[in-house]
Amino acid sequence: MAVSLVLIGLLALEAVASVTIRKTDRGPTGYEVDFRYVNPTAKRVLIGGGIQPFTDQFHTSGTSFRANGRYHPRDYQPGDFYVSNPSPQLPAEPAYIWPYEMNLTDAGKGEWTYTAPLPSGIYSFAYLVNCNYAPNCSIDTGQLVIDPDLPPFMNVPGDQVASSFQVPFNPAFQASPELNTNFDYALDAPKPWRGTVKTVNYTSPGSIHPAPDVHDFSIYLPAEYGAVAGKKYPLLYLSHGAGGNGADWENLGRMSHIMDNLIRLGHIAPTVVVTPSFYNLLPGSEKFIYGNKSQSIPVPPAYLVRENFVDYLFPHVESTFEVCSNASCRAFAGLSMGGVLTYEMYVNATAMFDYYGIFSPATNAPYVTREDVARRPELGKKGIMVAWGLYDFVFNQARDLLTAFDGAGVGYVNRVTPFGSHYWNTWQDELWWFGQLVLWKGVTGRETGRAKVPR
Ligand SMILES: *[C@@H]1O[C@H](CO)[C@@H](O)[C@H](O)[C@H]1NC(C)=O
Ligand SMILES: *[C@@H]1O[C@H](CO)[C@@H](O)[C@H](O)[C@H]1NC(C)=O
Ligand SMILES: *[C@@H]1O[C@H](CO)[C@@H](O)[C@H](O)[C@H]1NC(C)=O
Ligand SMILES: *[C@@H]1O[C@H](CO)[C@@H](O)[C@H](O)[C@H]1NC(C)=O
Ligand SMILES: *[C@@H]1O[C@H](CO)[C@@H](O)[C@H](O)[C@H]1NC(C)=O
Ligand SMILES: *[C@@H]1O[C@H](CO)[C@@H](O)[C@H](O)[C@H]1NC(C)=O
Repeated sequence: MAVSLVLIGLLALEAVASVTIRKTDRGPTGYEVDFRYVNPTAKRVLIGGGIQPFTDQFHTSGTSFRANGRYHPRDYQPGDFYVSNPSPQLPAEPAYIWPYEMNLTDAGKGEWTYTAPLPSGIYSFAYLVNCNYAPNCSIDTGQLVIDPDLPPFMNVPGDQVASSFQVPFNPAFQASPELNTNFDYALDAPKPWRGTVKTVNYTSPGSIHPAPDVHDFSIYLPAEYGAVAGKKYPLLYLSHGAGGNGADWENLGRMSHIMDNLIRLGHIAPTVVVTPSFYNLLPGSEKFIYGNKSQSIPVPPAYLVRENFVDYLFPHVESTFEVCSNASCRAFAGLSMGGVLTYEMYVNATAMFDYYGIFSPATNAPYVTREDVARRPELGKKGIMVAWGLYDFVFNQARDLLTAFDGAGVGYVNRVTPFGSHYWNTWQDELWWFGQLVLWKGVTGRETGRAKVPR
């Protein structure tokens, strides 16, 4: 997905929306973002869908969102970062400036605008129209409107409910002695390094979305793909979490840019990435449509997802794309409930993958034991990263998993994202470090990382 730095959206007069990222060379961040949305009948427009409040390392509670310092970006200072709030509720929290209220700047045209200084990072957003209580405003009620001129990366409409853009780092205003909050590794790589990303439908008997017996995934093909006759590429499966789907990693996390940059900087060989979806797979399951108040649909049990992927997804990918077919060049990773799925793959599809990225895992005991590893020594010969955010609500669960690995004598690399809650800036950081420290680096069964940390 090509996103212009200077202007996103259409320049044409008919454009009904746009997002412009401007380098200002003045504080607080050195960049400003202008939102513009035309809707002559709206009475009120808010920007929702993922722009989070900011906080800092000295005013962030690891246990309570309510206790966090929550700053408007106008009050940004170097070292601030955003933390997710799990349930933005308006107008219940008047002191808390989220979602952002747009100005009706031209009543005749129905033009709504909003300008905010934002620091480096990816932001997702949607317009909330005549909406006073964000959780109740959906696409179906017409109160959640995706920017028509910046459509999200997705397969079918309804699969994503927010567009996204990325603001660059400006060291003059954002460099902090305490914390590196430079997310430029998720910006567009120079053209020759840009891979492609697309959605794919495949036959999966019993699937209920996007069509009966059809399921889907997204795939990243590195720039080099197809240029070297007969070459097979290492393959990373990368899962979303609860309430998401296979388009999330690209739409909300800019997976393709992170991969382009990992490859460009020589951290990994060109790699194919498949981001599957774990909902809507199983016969008789309840349909999950993003943002359609269906977030409460239960996450399917990981072992059933694994069995289904083994039967339909993995064979489809291997027979359709130029990917390698042995464990040493296959990896599975995933965030949150996708981390649970990754752990399940580690235990139950051990022979398929040599590398596992267990990101912000919502895992629970029982975990592998020393006896398990004695019985199945391969469990101790994998390249594993376990990562989570310092302010992540799965902190205890992730730490318990590490404690179990310690007890079982299983080696791993551990990254605690120092600005991280349970959100995309954390998961981007986890993927970035997984690529730098673990992916395709060899499986000694011990920590592989430290010597490889770039200095
Ligand atoms: C909203 O409009 C007011 C008055 O023109 C202006 O001062 C303010 O900066 C605008 N706010 C945003 C966030 O654009
Ligand atoms: C939100 O929706 C629920 C259920 O549809 C309803 O009970 C509740 O009153 C709504 N809340 C607001 C603030 O509109
Ligand atoms: C969302 O659910 C409603 C009813 O529950 C349905 O009418 C609508 O078509 C669904 N939207 C999508 C995008 O599937
Ligand atoms: C996948 O199938 C759905 C439903 O038939 C269709 O709307 C969509 O365009 C298809 N996507 C691709 C990439 O073929
Ligand atoms: C695994 O596949 C890669 C790429 O196809 C190949 O280079 C390597 O030799 C294979 N390893 C084994 C053990 O088969
Ligand atoms: C492994 O698979 C079995 C069923 O085949 C399941 O009961 C078990 O929970 C799975 N293990 C993990 C760690 O998910």
